[in-house]
Amino acid sequence: MKLANVTVIGGQWGDEGKGKIVDWLASRADVVVRFQGGHNAGHTLVVGNQTYKLSLLPSGIVGGTLSVIGNGVVLDPWALRDEIGRLREQGVEIGPDKLQIADTCPLILPFHRDLDALREDASGAGKIGTTRRGIGPAYEDKVGRRAIRVCDLAHLGELGPQLDRICAHHDALRAGFGQPGIDREALLRELGEVAETVLPYARPVWKTLHEARARGRRILFEGAQGVLLDVDHGTYPFVTSSNTVAGTAAAGTGLGPSAAGFVLGIVKAYTTRVGSGPFPTELEDAVGQRLGERGHEFGTVTGRKRRCGWFDAVLVRQSMAVAGVTGIALTKLDVLDGLDEIRICTGYGLRGETLDHLPAHAADQAAVEPIYEAMPGWPESTAGARSWRQLPAQAIKYIRRIEELIACPVALVSTSPEREDTILVRDPFAH
Ligand code: IMP
Repeated sequence: MKLANVTVIGGQWGDEGKGKIVDWLASRADVVVRFQGGHNAGHTLVVGNQTYKLSLLPSGIVGGTLSVIGNGVVLDPWALRDEIGRLREQGVEIGPDKLQIADTCPLILPFHRDLDALREDASGAGKIGTTRRGIGPAYEDKVGRRAIRVCDLAHLGELGPQLDRICAHHDALRAGFGQPGIDREALLRELGEVAETVLPYARPVWKTLHEARARGRRILFEGAQGVLLDVDHGTYPFVTSSNTVAGTAAAGTGLGPSAAGFVLGIVKAYTTRVGSGPFPTELEDAVGQRLGERGHEFGTVTGRKRRCGWFDAVLVRQSMAVAGVTGIALTKLDVLDGLDEIRICTGYGLRGETLDHLPAHAADQAAVEPIYEAMPGWPESTAGARSWRQLPAQAIKYIRRIEELIACPVALVSTSPEREDTILVRDPFAH
């Protein structure tokens, strides 16, 4: 049996229930690594009678597994300080032996947050519905080669020309929104203060990860958001600003493409989306309402109500293909318990044509009509099932049909938020 790395990614629009699966895998990994996104992600960890909320820190942190924030993440140092502080109050001490942060990580600065909110407020109906955490503007500055990075915090005395560049860019944008320019003295002072928190963790993490690989350590790459929010492959422009596919695990950490190992796509047994953008199988009726209520579909980070709809096999098939998924974890099956009929979208109609994929243009994406096939539901409860034998025959048929339609096998089925309520079909670490 060969032990491999595992990369976990979301197969839909985020919120697929990655948290529970990642926690389960993290307890068996030697290193847990975030490689994209930032504190727009969010998940709640329940250990014993304590509840921990994580946004930026990798999931291994509470259990004491070495946790790494890779270069592909955009890091808000104040959000990091607050998250570390909150965990410390709950008795979790986070020293540099437990957490390493890539010294090449670009920083999210206060004016990134301002710009995110200013743009959203000015966009009216066309807004993206971002988390307003400054994620997009920080990535723009990274590729615009203006970013201030973690390593710069150790050289604040030499930051002048870099600060001139980034401030000139943002002052012009801010002026367009009628906002005052950036107070550089205050920014430098605040950076100086927060540097004390960040710098002890700063490392060339690519080295740590290469050494871990060389010693045969198991690495868990923890993706955030989902493939349909990927800046290239998602429902552009209603996407996040990073690549959420498994390939980012390599570029976002400094490991080669073979490091990803088993790519586990987390897929919800129905569909949800937060924020704006096309959603072909959205249900704005009593069934949608029921899915939202039974599935507790409210955002962890922003508390927003999630939009709900039927399982869209067209989208998931596409996600599995573009992300290179090896097997899926199907989550929240129990939310479908008790429905008379369940529908699966198997194709789209667009102006008299039938499509087997999502078209690229936003207007076409908004115009596609789902083509459904219907299956009988199951009256029994699947909640808490831990083996196939505990599932109703109709639920097994639903899972098998999904596998067939998305052309990807099921590795795990999750039947409740409890860690043990999982049907393990194929162990991602041992493949
Ligand atoms: P941003 O990542 O804050 O720029 O938001 C861009 C889009 O991604 C919005 O539709 C957000 O609702 C969505 N988004 C960002 N992070 C998450 C997440 O962790 N779960 C679900 N949706 C997310």
